Amino acid sequence: MGVNIMAMGSYLPEQSLTNDYFKRFVDTNDEWIRTRTGICSRHMAGWEPVWYMGKMAAQKAIEKAGINPDEIGLVIVSTITSDFLTPSVASVIQYELGISNASAFDLNAACSGFVYMLDAARRYLETDENLKYVLVVSSEALSRFIDYSDRGTCILFGDGASAAVISRSDKMYSSFLASDGSGARKLFARNMAVAPQVKQDNDFDDGFPEKPQHQLYQDGKEVYKFAVKALPKAFNAAAEKIGITSIDIDWFVPHQANVRIIETAAKNLGTGTDKFIVTLDHHGNTSSASIPLALCEAIEKGIIQRGQKLALVGFGAGLTYGSIILEY
Ligand code: UT7
Repeated sequence: MGVNIMAMGSYLPEQSLTNDYFKRFVDTNDEWIRTRTGICSRHMAGWEPVWYMGKMAAQKAIEKAGINPDEIGLVIVSTITSDFLTPSVASVIQYELGISNASAFDLNAACSGFVYMLDAARRYLETDENLKYVLVVSSEALSRFIDYSDRGTCILFGDGASAAVISRSDKMYSSFLASDGSGARKLFARNMAVAPQVKQDNDFDDGFPEKPQHQLYQDGKEVYKFAVKALPKAFNAAAEKIGITSIDIDWFVPHQANVRIIETAAKNLGTGTDKFIVTLDHHGNTSSASIPLALCEAIEKGIIQRGQKLALVGFGAGLTYGSIILEY
């Protein structure tokens, strides 16, 4: 059983920041950021909470799907930057949009979150015949967890949300999900609620400079090396299950982290970058929101069309990775 992406909607914060903005905090320049990452600008949440961005995206998706919110039986939100430890962002969005007959929960698989969430939605649809529609939402505000004195990290991230209404379908579908916990300390942020004087287990930050409790640590080079291998590995594993190759795919929609990662992965897959949807130039890396933001934009621009075969490929903290191949 596959899934039908009935409709999508996105929300980007009002503020958009160019690369030059970061010259206020760190020794950097537009040329370095463009050539080393492909990023030119990114949106940054000001007053907008994560639940609000998710709600706005979800509202558009529900309107476009032309369904009644009461017909949605499950709301899943993928986020690593929730406004709350509890309740879930999903429960807040459920209430805000009057989705009164649904269960709701959040999912954290970092930048692979949308791929994990869509696959979870499909499994619920497959096993619960009373479930008609699932609302999946990715909403992230990475800007609130960034060290603005770390020039290798602060320039990468952006904020935003994107949502889709999903139903079951008989269209082509395959998925592959994985996690390599041995890489957990290569990309992490601590929970703010932990007492600052408590030395955390596992010496996660060994070898990293000291940072305030909740900020994001990353070994950029190691994450890069992981990403260029994980992207083709995840796609090939999902493709093998249904006997197809990269030639059969119309559009790859990868996690938007660094254009050099996408170029190298495309080479490793033996396909051109012209089959890859790239929006990181104006979105930056929005973690789990990056794939649906790119997908939604390409659909709205008429680049991705009904009947085409798509490969969504995510990778991120965990280190998680995964791919979904589906017909749009
Ligand atoms: O969702 C997953 C999240 N994480 C990622 O996707 C990160 C993946 N990694 C990357 O994208 C890249 O490794 C980075 C963009 C983070 C860094 O690019 P790089 O080509 O690996 O650069 P580097 O770390 O090797 O640094 C090269 C030089 C260094 O200077 P020195 O030591 O050679 O003098 C850095 O200090 O570039 C310097 N540098 C900068 N210079 C200007 C690092 N950041 C900047 C900057 N502006 N923003």
